[in-house]
This record gives sequence, structure tokens and C-alpha cells, in this order.
Amino acid sequence: MKTVSTFNHNWLFAPVQVEHDASDDRFEAICLPHTNKLFSRPFVDNAEYQFISTYRKHFALPDALDSQQVFIDFDGAMLVSHVFVNGQPVAVHKGGFTPFSVDITDQAVPGDNLLTVYVDATEDTSVPPYGNLVDYLTFGGIYRDVHLRLVDSCHITSLFPKPVTVLTAPGLDCDVRLSQWKPGLRLEARLHDADGQPVALLTQDVSSQSVVVSFVDLEQIDLWTLKNPALYTLKLSLLSGGDVIDQQVVRFGFRSAEFCDDGRFYLNGEPVKLFGLNRHQTYPYLGAAAPKRLQELDADILKYELGCNIVRTSHYAQSPHFLNRCDEIGLLVFEEIAGWQHIGDEAWRALVMDDLRAMIERDRHHPSIILWGVRINESPDDEDLYGETNALARALDSTRQTGGVRNFIRSEFLEDVFTLNDFPPGIQTPLVRPHLITEFGGHMFPTKTWDHEERRVEHALHHARKQNLQMGHPDIAGAIGWCAFDYHTHREFGSGDRICYHGVMDIYRLPKMAAYFYRSQKSPSDEIVLYAATNWTMGDRAAGGNNPLTIFSNCDEIEVFIGENSQGRFRPDVEQFPHLNHPPFTIRWQEPYNPWGTAFQDLTVRGLIGGAIVAEQRIDSSHLPQALRLSSNTDRLSADGTDMARIALQITDKYGNVLPYQMRSVTLTLEGEADLIGANPLVLLGGQAGCYVRSRFAAGTVTLTAETDDLPKAAIQLGIGD
Ligand code: GAL
Repeated sequence: MKTVSTFNHNWLFAPVQVEHDASDDRFEAICLPHTNKLFSRPFVDNAEYQFISTYRKHFALPDALDSQQVFIDFDGAMLVSHVFVNGQPVAVHKGGFTPFSVDITDQAVPGDNLLTVYVDATEDTSVPPYGNLVDYLTFGGIYRDVHLRLVDSCHITSLFPKPVTVLTAPGLDCDVRLSQWKPGLRLEARLHDADGQPVALLTQDVSSQSVVVSFVDLEQIDLWTLKNPALYTLKLSLLSGGDVIDQQVVRFGFRSAEFCDDGRFYLNGEPVKLFGLNRHQTYPYLGAAAPKRLQELDADILKYELGCNIVRTSHYAQSPHFLNRCDEIGLLVFEEIAGWQHIGDEAWRALVMDDLRAMIERDRHHPSIILWGVRINESPDDEDLYGETNALARALDSTRQTGGVRNFIRSEFLEDVFTLNDFPPGIQTPLVRPHLITEFGGHMFPTKTWDHEERRVEHALHHARKQNLQMGHPDIAGAIGWCAFDYHTHREFGSGDRICYHGVMDIYRLPKMAAYFYRSQKSPSDEIVLYAATNWTMGDRAAGGNNPLTIFSNCDEIEVFIGENSQGRFRPDVEQFPHLNHPPFTIRWQEPYNPWGTAFQDLTVRGLIGGAIVAEQRIDSSHLPQALRLSSNTDRLSADGTDMARIALQITDKYGNVLPYQMRSVTLTLEGEADLIGANPLVLLGGQAGCYVRSRFAAGTVTLTAETDDLPKAAIQLGIGD
């Protein structure tokens, strides 16, 4: 019978290449996910992570392995990995974004073993995404999870549950592949619903190495929808002579997802306009080595804080934890292969095919994924390569359509969906259908949290205008803006500090004004949003004043007060934004309006729905810093040495509004069994910044205290342990 164990603990790490027989003293003890270099500041020079490091792990195997095979499954290591067991070479893997399994049966021995992985994080031009310039950093290390797997030599090598005819007579075809066939094998497939209740059971004899197990006419199946993402579990057991010799469990959902020739995207037969953002997987300090909780947090932010219904995993396959969370919360995903504008030689192309295969084989059970990106982002047309990638994607997964992101509209259409990065103002008229906009914004309007107000408002409106145009365009299935979060980049891009300030949130995942545009498109039944896009000053804008004032809200009416005086009630700006579900409000004060140097009072905005006041925001006209706000995305961490909380620090006025020009240094003190990851003192830019608290192995409580100049201290406590 199979055993799978987490292999994330008790590793040894050295940021150099260390020989197999060298003493353990040369290493430091670490856990995975791990970055080969932890940064204590958000700015990163890519030269700093490009080196070979050694990961070493002592591990024990049972005394009798019988006919078992031993595998080590790596979810991801950046960028090239050389794997050795007991000093003998086992495998070389090139590519940092997709998983690889290493069969160590021949090199492993019963009892004690030594695993060594040399991970080369050099930006190797023979491995995608490298070969030319790339607008993102890859970082280095074994930055995702690893598992040890012992299986019978006859085992399940792949299981793909394919829901069929879900809208009429739901069924499930499970494609099963075994490592070998022998007489007397049986399969038992058990289907359970999200509560673990049994739904159906099937058993069948196995007649060959590849078989299909089919459930037909399943009754009372809950569809996976955006509001109710019902998930089912399939447990497949392989039996020989009555004994279970292998078992695989996979979670999936029943749903249909199709981009149609009428230009629209349909989920379960209902049209859904796609409205979303791109996501890079990198973080301040951590590189790409963010544990499960932070991966899940990104999905939650995209769905709940930004109101997106789709995310694109630009520009590579992302963490299984991120995708699992998208399944759980009902966030659609467009996942694509690694690369950036460049196509390399034959060997490089072969790695592209490997990457595509690994991505689809790993991820085709996710109901959230609705489209495979089978081109290198923004690369030139290449009929041979993209003919092959399309054919491979269709062969591996007949249930999903393909897309391939290009930046020129006359590109050859080999995919099922024409996916275009559409940066110019306005919208390019689709030449074919279906057509999906996969990027806009970004470098056309980089914006920092501490930019002046007009720029920050314009950044938000840039997103609002494009989303408005696509929402109203019948031939466009949706638009995915560039991008959710500011990200690390090479020196040829970004603002000189190696950061692209293209996010609607900053690198810590804290909001810019543009984030509130996205959030305001949520249904008021999910959250009532009211955000005045102003710091309400007299002199921050050119020529002073606050004209016009933009308010992002999903209320149907607002009332605005200066001091105690109502300035009137206002309706959404349907003239400028006729197609948005919740057009922003534009308040044009009566001309001339210039409060420069005149008496100036607080701003109050009230949001109304159906005539009733449902929300209020106040902005303090004194702009005095009143509080240091310290918050965490969780109040509890697992005592597993890898779990992390995202800590946010913000300076606010007396009403809780972040003050964007408070550039302060904050000193953090962490008491208890946990580590602080980040800069300390931490400099707040745009009135905000973040860091992480990582658990150790001890249960208990830790206290984090933040202090700055003249504001009251802030403190939070986190419980550690299950
Ligand atoms: C696109 C590219 C993205 C990012 C973006 C910046 O051309 O696909 O990766 O560089 O520009 O706006």
C-alpha cells in the first residue's frame, strides 16, 4: 500500500555547493518552502539570488522495501535541480514552475539515506523563461513542498476525473493510467460530496494499463459555481488479490465552462463577463517561497477584497495551494506556461513542451481552471511550436479550451480563444471570437502608493474605463488587468528600484486607490463598498482643490457633506461608465471651486441603497496621524516551522483612513516562539507596509508590538498551535 509523507522538515541548507561527504556542520537547518536568499528589504537585485545552493536531507526508509518503488515528489524548485541519493546522481530537472518526481528506488537503501539537491538559481538562458529579458524575477531554492512516496511497483500513475454532460445528465469519466498491467487487478472508485457523504461507488476489473471508470446519471449533483463552489472527492483504490495496493484521492467539481462563438464565456450555461487581474507569485523578502496560508490569502484577496471572478497566473504555473483555494472559493483561473516574449532553440522548446505537459497533468482536476495558456506570453507567432502546444493540450485535456497570450491583434489564431494584451487606450475591435483581454494598464500607468493624488485617482480610473468598455462590448468575453500586486523585476523594467508598480495593490498586498474600484464592483449583497478616492487636501492636486471628486461605491446614491453642509445627493456616473455594474460617482463642484487657503472642513460621504443610509466614510481635514494600525490576516498559526501570518502596518487619521504621505519608520518587537520576516525597523511608504511572522515548532502565544515616534504603540497576539 502506498505511503506519502510530507518531506518539508529537517532539511539542511548551504548557499554554496557542498560535497556529499562534507560534515553537516557546514549547513543550517531549514524547512520548506525555502528561498535560497531571504531579503530584509523589499528591493532585490537579481544578481543576489543567482548561485548554486545545496539542500541536504537525511531520511530513513523501512528495513524491507519489498517490491516498493520510492519517489521524491518536488512541487517546484528554481531553476535547475541536480538530485543525488547516497552520493549517486538520480536526475536533473530544468525548469522552476512545474513539479517533478524522482524515482530513487535504485539508489535508495533500507534504513538511513542521504538526499542532496543542488539547486542552481542562475538565470540560465537555456531554460524558460530565460533566453532574453524577462519582466519578473524568479528567485531560487526549493520553494514549494516536497513529498516522499512509497508505492507498489504496480500503481496508479495518473487519474483525471472528467465531469460529462453536467447540465443534462451529470456523469464522470475517470481516465486512469497504471504503471503496469497484470492479471487480477480491480479498481474501486468512491465518490463523495463536500461533506464527505458517499455519492456513488463503482468497481471494475482492469483490462489494460489505461482504463476509464465511468459514473453515469449521477443524481442530485451540486454544480461548482462562483457563489457555491461545490467540490467532490474521488477516491480510487487499486486492488490486487483483494488487497488495496494503491490509492489516489482527487478533488474536483461538476461544472461546464465554455467560451462560445457568440463572444461570451458561459459557466454552467450562464453567461459570465470575466473581470479580473493578473497575479505574479513573488513576495517581499520571501522571493517565491510563500507557504500555503499566504498562497491562499492571495486567492482570498482577489476574490473578496478585489471582487474579481478570474485571475491569470502570469506567466507560469502557480502553487497548488493557490489553485486549491481558487477551487474552494469560486475564483476562475487562466493558467499558462512559463516564458516571456522569447522562444529559444530546439532544446528550449522541448522544455516548453515538458512544462505544458506537467502543468496540465498536475492541474486538470481543478474546476477553477477554465483555460490553458499554451503560448509563451507575448512571443511572436510560431506555427510549429504553437501547433504542437495546442495539440498536446487538447490531447491531455479534452475538456478545456486553449488560449495563448499575444500582444498583436493580427496574430495567427491557433487556439480556441483569442487572448490579447490590449494596452492602448480604448479597446481594440476583436477580429475573431471568442476574444479575451488578458492584460491592460500596467506599464501604461505605473503608480505608487505615495504618488500624488491625481495620479492615484487616474490609475484607478484607467482600470475603470477599460473594464467599462469591455463590459459593454458584446464580442469580448472579459478583461484581466495588469495586475493585482506590485512585483519584483529586472533592471530593464520597473522604476529603477527593481519593482514594477503596476499593481492595484502594493507588493505587501495592501490597497492602492485602484483596488477600491475593483472592490466597488462587488454586489452590495456581498459587501457594501464606499470609498472616496481623495485624501481631501487643499493643495495636493495641480492648482489645488478636489475637483472632480471620484467615489467608488456600489451604493445607488450618495450624499456628500463638507463639515455639516450637505453638497447634495449624487447618482452613479452612468454617462462615463454606462457598462459597469456599479459606475463610480463623479462629483464636479460648482465652478469656481478652489478651497486653497480658505476654511477647510472634514468630508463626509454617505452611501444609500433604496433611500436608506448603509455606509459612511469621513476624512479628517487636519490629516493628522492618529493611529498606527497593526493587523494580521490570521490570529493563529500552525506550529510547523513554516506557517506565516501577513502583518500589515498602516498610519491612519482619526477616522481610519490611511495617510499616504506618512513615511515613517516603525520598530517591531516580537516576543515568543516565532520569527519576524522583513525589515526592522520597517519603513512605511505611502502610509503602509507589511512583514511576516513565521511559526517555529512550539505552541503558545506570541506578541508583536509596533512603535513609532509619537503615536500610541500597537500590539497584536497570535496563537501558535492547532
Ligand atoms: C506586458 C507583459 C507583462 C508585463 C506588462 C507590464 O507586456 O506581458 O508581463 O510586463 O506588460 O505592463
